[in-house]
Amino acid sequence: MKKILMVCLGNICRSPLAEGILKSKVNKEEVFVDSAGTSGHHNGEAPDKRSIEVAYRYGIDISKQKSRKFTVADFDNFDLIYAMDDSNYHNILGLSRNDEDVSKVKMILNEVEENSNTNVPDPYYGAEQGFENVFKTLDEACEVIAKKIAN
Ligand code: 4NP
Repeated sequence: MKKILMVCLGNICRSPLAEGILKSKVNKEEVFVDSAGTSGHHNGEAPDKRSIEVAYRYGIDISKQKSRKFTVADFDNFDLIYAMDDSNYHNILGLSRNDEDVSKVKMILNEVEENSNTNVPDPYYGAEQGFENVFKTLDEACEVIAKKIAN
C-alpha cells in the first residue's frame, strides 16, 4: 500500500481538494490518500464551502473530510508528503528528524514542472475563480502522480 499525504496551511481549501482529486484517480486498494494542515487552526472542520462546491462540480465529494494538523508521526505513516506551497514545505521540513523524513517531502507542482518550486496559490481570501484555478492545477498534478503510481 502506497501512502500519500497532501499538506497545506489550514487543511480546508487546497489539500482537501488534492486528497479528493488523487483519490478519484487511484485504486483505493493500492493507494491510501490523506491530507493535513500545518496550522491546526481549523481542526475538525469540514473543507471550505468553496472547495466542496468546486469539487462537486467535477463529480468529487470532499464534504466528509475533517481538517487535522500535520504531526511528526506523519513522516512514519506516509511514503510521500506533498506540500502545496513553499511555506508549507518549510514548516513540514522544520519537523523532520532525519534525511529519510526530508526525502519524503515534495512541492506538489514539481510533479508538473520539475524543480519549478511553484506554489499552489492560497485561495482562502480570494475570489471564487481562485478555487476553480486551484482545482485545475491540482487535477493536472494528481494526474501525473496517479500515472507514476500506476507505472
Ligand atoms: P488552505 O487555505 O491552507 O488551502 O486550507 C487556508 C485556510 C485558512 C487559512 C489560511 C489558508 N486561515 O488563515 O484561516
